[in-house]
Amino acid sequence: MSRQQRKKDHLDFTLKTAQFPVENGFSDINLVYEALPDVDLDEVDISLDFLGKKLKAPLLINAMTGGHPDVKQINRSLARSAAKTGIAMAVGSQTAGLEDTKVRDTYTIARDENPDGVLLANLSALASPSMVKEAIEMIRADGIQLHLNVAQELAMAEGDRKFNGVLTNIEKIVKESPVPVIIKEVGFGLSRETVRKIYDLGVRYIDVGGKGGTDFIKIEYMRSGRDSDGKFQNIGITTAASLIEALSLKLPFTVIAAGGFTGNSDVACALALGAKLVGMTGHFLKVISTSSEQGLISRIDNIVDDLRKNMLMIGAKNLKEITGKPVVITGFTAEWLLRRGVDITEYAVRS
Ligand SMILES: Cc1cc2nc3c(=O)[nH]c(=O)nc-3n(C[C@H](O)[C@H](O)[C@H](O)COP(=O)(O)O)c2cc1C
Repeated sequence: MSRQQRKKDHLDFTLKTAQFPVENGFSDINLVYEALPDVDLDEVDISLDFLGKKLKAPLLINAMTGGHPDVKQINRSLARSAAKTGIAMAVGSQTAGLEDTKVRDTYTIARDENPDGVLLANLSALASPSMVKEAIEMIRADGIQLHLNVAQELAMAEGDRKFNGVLTNIEKIVKESPVPVIIKEVGFGLSRETVRKIYDLGVRYIDVGGKGGTDFIKIEYMRSGRDSDGKFQNIGITTAASLIEALSLKLPFTVIAAGGFTGNSDVACALALGAKLVGMTGHFLKVISTSSEQGLISRIDNIVDDLRKNMLMIGAKNLKEITGKPVVITGFTAEWLLRRGVDITEYAVRS
């Protein structure tokens, strides 16, 4: 199975799996309604600075594709949608583009269509520092995502089995990279212990990529036709638990929340907890595959509209204010955090 074909399979099999049957924990995250906000909807400002550029909204079209001739059109549409709505975008893993110059245009199209936007490069955390530099140059990236995907590799018949040396590799990349390094998971979450290790390597940006959205164990099992009796390994930290674990360390990180987001109040909840951006992949892929580029732009506009209304309903005029608003954490997420020794009372009593 070639790397290029695998990139295409991931798109096809994501669309075949059900829309996020597992919970990402955000039904346990509750904002406190403010019936006296004293703010006009027009006044609510959701713009922010990210990697030296301005974004119109704290959203990211997270790493999805590139590397097969058939997916160039998808990256073109994603990039146009990001440019039109003023949000950030990441390309999919660029190894295929480093190996074969013939498919480079499936990545560079994202920069061509969005010359001034925030665009992130993407490679495995096992990539060499020289590959990282080449991937950044390929799309004139503003930052590079290095993905951690042990669970996915182990589920993949042809996946990596050797992970020794990844920490020293990340440390080397951080020292040599011309742009900020973002460490991201792909749907199994980052624990507090992992986040501490990432910090000690000099990284200051993370994407928690938690459980409850795209499930790569399921996708890889389906792709290889492996018999699993309909059951898949139950591993991973939900996005809500992972985000709160990461933030509980109170380290100077920029944190991206991702894993199972589809819009609605969950976006405001993640920002209120302390995330800087909310990333979506599976949801945007499903929207674009059923309703094209214009459909994706409308969907992003609606997510933005919902976010502004949610902010008004909790009395937050801007993204700085939303982080100070009370959040009540209940159910499985509260129990998980309690058992992990994370203090969550401070979220509920903010004023
Ligand atoms: C079709 C598909 C391809 C993906 N390819 C990559 C990739 O190349 N690199 C990467 O870091 N993450 C990749 N991801 C993972 C996403 O960036 C994200 O971390 C994960 O899907 C969780 O978010 P979601 O639940 O919103 O989909 C891919 C996801 C999907 C659905």
